[in-house]
Amino acid sequence: MVSDKMAKALNSQLNFELYSAYVYLAMSAHADSVGLKGFANWFQVQYEEEMFHAMKFFNYIMDRAEVELEQIDKPRKTYKDALEMFEETLKHEQEVTSRINELASLAIDEKDHATSTFLQWFINEQVEEEATVKEILDNLKLAGATGAGLFMINGELAARTFTPPATA
Ligand code: FEO
Repeated sequence: MVSDKMAKALNSQLNFELYSAYVYLAMSAHADSVGLKGFANWFQVQYEEEMFHAMKFFNYIMDRAEVELEQIDKPRKTYKDALEMFEETLKHEQEVTSRINELASLAIDEKDHATSTFLQWFINEQVEEEATVKEILDNLKLAGATGAGLFMINGELAARTFTPPATA
């Protein structure tokens, strides 16, 4: 069993991962609505990644405490352009990283070694999440968020497919 405080914090992160999935699903719909099919694909794959993260928390909480599902906040519906979508994505991932770090600190404070080990996967995953988003954002700034640059990046993002991340 984990402490009540830890159970609450883990359930809160489960909710935030589900909210993250919702944010990216809404971004996918928005990208599709403005004709950016490649961006729509990338955000749909991102949605699937977040659902994978959520289910990792769900299964861990089931093993060690009680799952308590909360209401999921309504995500934003529209964005100015592709650049803003990726600026917001980077900010969102930085927020996730900060929440994972808070959780990891709590696990250390509570000498909850099993939760510390569980969270290690997410610490590594966030390094990759931020780096991937930052690279796309840099490309958008370099190649241009309109015209030929946008068209090229849209084509690249169309190629992304969901592969369940390694869990080891
Ligand atoms: Fe679940 Fe993108 O962090």
